[in-house]
Amino acid sequence: EWTMAEFRAAKIADIRKQVGKGRVICGLSGGVDSAVAAVLIHEAIGEQLTCVFVDHGLMRAGEADQVVSLFRNSYNIPLVHVNAEATFLEGLAGVTDPEKKRKFIGGAFIDLFEAEAKKVGGADFLAQGTLYPDVIESVSFTGGPSVTIKSHHNVGGLPERMNMQLVEPLRELFKDEVRVLGRELGLPQAFVGRHPFPGPGLAIRIPGEVTKERCDILRKADAIYLEEIRNAGLYDTIWQAFAVLLPVRSVGVMGDGRTYDSVLALRAVTSTDGMTAEAFEFPGGFLARVSTRIVNEVRGVNRVTYDYTSKPPGTIEWE
Ligand code: XMP
Repeated sequence: EWTMAEFRAAKIADIRKQVGKGRVICGLSGGVDSAVAAVLIHEAIGEQLTCVFVDHGLMRAGEADQVVSLFRNSYNIPLVHVNAEATFLEGLAGVTDPEKKRKFIGGAFIDLFEAEAKKVGGADFLAQGTLYPDVIESVSFTGGPSVTIKSHHNVGGLPERMNMQLVEPLRELFKDEVRVLGRELGLPQAFVGRHPFPGPGLAIRIPGEVTKERCDILRKADAIYLEEIRNAGLYDTIWQAFAVLLPVRSVGVMGDGRTYDSVLALRAVTSTDGMTAEAFEFPGGFLARVSTRIVNEVRGVNRVTYDYTSKPPGTIEWE
């Protein structure tokens, strides 16, 4: 039995021992895991760490700004912020296959990250916020055929190419433990308690082609859904909640007119590690209220559905 304070002290010692006087570069994804890893490593080696945030423009409303201000203003940790929305949207144009989206995003992310790493003078170590479930979901069963359910862009590829050693202080932890560690390190509760968000971002919540317009529609609907969840006091009991913008249009009626607009699916699940999940049962009236708000406030959406699938056999994300 260990406490998180002991874990923190032990990891700081490990990081110092592994890194020595070397330089470390850490890729921030905008999420909790990489931020906790970066703050822990900064505590261990200070100025030897440089953080790079390759911002693919596929984040939710306001989330990229929160990370940047957290690092620059609250922690005073040097951060290179690369705004690459245009590059990602151009590369995603015409791509509809989920694995092709993931591969493109992962590849572009690595290219941009590598270019920034060169600009800051290179590094000997690459830090990542890899968690235990990332490690096991990405590795094939020993001796068996290699089965990749989804290629996660935060594991693999980068270290070999950049010829750097990995620093992964969270490799043994589950998500709930990372949150405890984050609080231990003084990160704000609103940040630490954030729902997990996938590396490829909104691109895998827009089945079919990803465009700026569809990202904006999804961001608006998603923000309404999460605002209602927070107002109902449900945010912390849900593992993940998000909207998915479907490539399906349906007929509706608005005023005297007929509409023919996109269908949106709402997803909310409970889970302890993301490896299995159950659909969340909202209290009566909640989903009706959210649906009404979204259809009234978000142009381009005229129908809202709720996804009741558990994992397995479904996955949490749609792609
Ligand atoms: P699935 O959809 O496989 O997701 O049930 C399990 C958990 O992993 C997140 N997820 C990702 N996280 N890169 C990430 O960092 C990815 O490519 C990725 N794909 C899925 C998902 O949001 C859920 O928490």
